[in-house]
Amino acid sequence: MKIIIVGGGGREHALLKALGKNPGIETIYALPGNGGMVGEALLVDIAATEVEAIRDFACQKAVDLVVVGPEAPLTLGLVDLLTEAGILAFGPRKNAALVEGSKVFAKELMRKYGIPTAEYMVFADHGEALNFVQNREELDYVIKADGLAAGKGVIIPQTREEAVEAINAIMAERVFGASGNRVVIEELLTGPEVTMLTFCDGKTVVPMVSSMDHKRVGDGDEGPNTGGMGVIAPNPYYTEEIHRYCWEHIYRPTVQALEKEGRPFQGCLYFGLMLTPAGPKVIEYNCRFGDPEAQAVLPLLKTDLLQVLKATIQGRLAKVPVDFSSAHAACVMAASKGYPGDYETGWEISMGELADAVVYHSGTASRNGKLYTAGGRVLGVTATAPDLEAAIGKAYRGMGKIHFPGMHYRRDIGQRALEKRKDGGA
Ligand code: AMP
Ligand code: GLY
Repeated sequence: MKIIIVGGGGREHALLKALGKNPGIETIYALPGNGGMVGEALLVDIAATEVEAIRDFACQKAVDLVVVGPEAPLTLGLVDLLTEAGILAFGPRKNAALVEGSKVFAKELMRKYGIPTAEYMVFADHGEALNFVQNREELDYVIKADGLAAGKGVIIPQTREEAVEAINAIMAERVFGASGNRVVIEELLTGPEVTMLTFCDGKTVVPMVSSMDHKRVGDGDEGPNTGGMGVIAPNPYYTEEIHRYCWEHIYRPTVQALEKEGRPFQGCLYFGLMLTPAGPKVIEYNCRFGDPEAQAVLPLLKTDLLQVLKATIQGRLAKVPVDFSSAHAACVMAASKGYPGDYETGWEISMGELADAVVYHSGTASRNGKLYTAGGRVLGVTATAPDLEAAIGKAYRGMGKIHFPGMHYRRDIGQRALEKRKDGGA
C-alpha cells in the first residue's frame, strides 16, 4: 500500500506515526512533510494548497489513499479532485468542508436545525458592522471573519476601540482577504472548552476521546492566542451526562443536517464546544483533526487507523468497531522565540533519548542529518499513562531533553484538568 499524507504539522506527524503501525503500508509520502518525518516518510516538495499538483502526483504514483490534514486543501476541493480521479481520499468534499470554510454557513446551519450555539448576527456591510459596535454599550460579543484566517479570525474585544479596529481590519483593510467579505458578531459565551473529534462517514458519527486544548501562549492562560500550546485527553469537564447531551443535540443533528443539505460530511468533524451555564454550545466546527488535539487523541486509538479511515470513506463506520484506550494523554508544544508574533527560525535542535514519550514535529527542517527550527510551533512531546498526572510528568520529562535557542513552552499544561479532577470531575 502507498499512502500520501497532505500537510506538514504535528497533526500530520501524528497521523503518520499512527498509520506507520500498519505493516501493510509500504510507502508513505508526506506533502510537504517536515524534518521530523525524514526516515518515516518520503518528503515531496508540494505545498498542501497545490491541489492540482497533489492530484497529479497521487495519480502518477498510483497511491491507494490520500489523507488530508489541513483545512485549506479541503476547502479548495482536493478530495473532490482526487475522488474524480478514482483515488481514495480521507477528508470532506468542498461542499461539506464549508462548515469550517464559512462561519456564516456554520451558524445558519445550526440556526436552521436548532443546534445549540451562540446567538449571532451577520454583517456584509462595513458601515453597518461599525455602527453596531459603536452603539453597543456592553462588550458582550465576539467578532469573527467569515472565512479561513489561519486561526486569527476571532476577536474578543476588550474595549470599543478594539472592536472598531477589528471591524476595520477585517472589512476595510481586508487583512484576511475575501474571508472578510462578511463578519459574524456573536454572543460572548463563558465556560470550559472541550474539543471533540469525530469520525464521520456521512451518516454515522463516531466520537473519539474528548480533549482540552491550551490556546494562550502563557501559563495561566495569559497572553495572545496561538494555534495551541498543549492538550490533554480525555477532558475531565466532559462528563457522561454532557456526552449524552452532545450526542443527542449536537453530534447526531449536525451530521444529519449536513446530509439533509446534500453535503454529507465524510472525514474528521471537529466540534469545538463550550460548556456554558446554559448547557454545551458549539463554538466552531472544523473539517479536520485538531492540531494539537490529534497529537493526544490519536495515540489513544487502539483500532488500526487505516481501517478506520477506509471505513469512514466507504460509509462503513456503523459496522467497524473503533476502540480507544482508557489511558490519559498529555502533549506539550515547544515554540520558537517570538511566537505567536514574528518568530526566529533556523536554530539547531538538540534532542536526547526519550524513553517513554513521543515527539511529533511541526516546524522543523532536516539538513545533513541535523534538525533545525523552521516554524512558530516547533514540536510537541506526547506521553500516555494510566493517569493524567503521570502522563503530564512523562511529557515534561521528555521536553526537558529537548533544547534550541529561544525555545519556550507552557509549564502548566493539564494543571486545570488536574484541579478539576481533584474537585470530583470525570
Ligand atoms: P478559533 O480561532 O476559531 O479556534 O477560536 C478561538 C477561540 O475564541 C475559541 O477557542 C474560544 O476560546 C474563543 N471564542 C470563539 N467564539 C466564542 C464565543 N462566542 N464566546 C466566547 N469565546 C469564544
Ligand atoms: N487546536 C485548534 C485547532 O486545531 O483548530
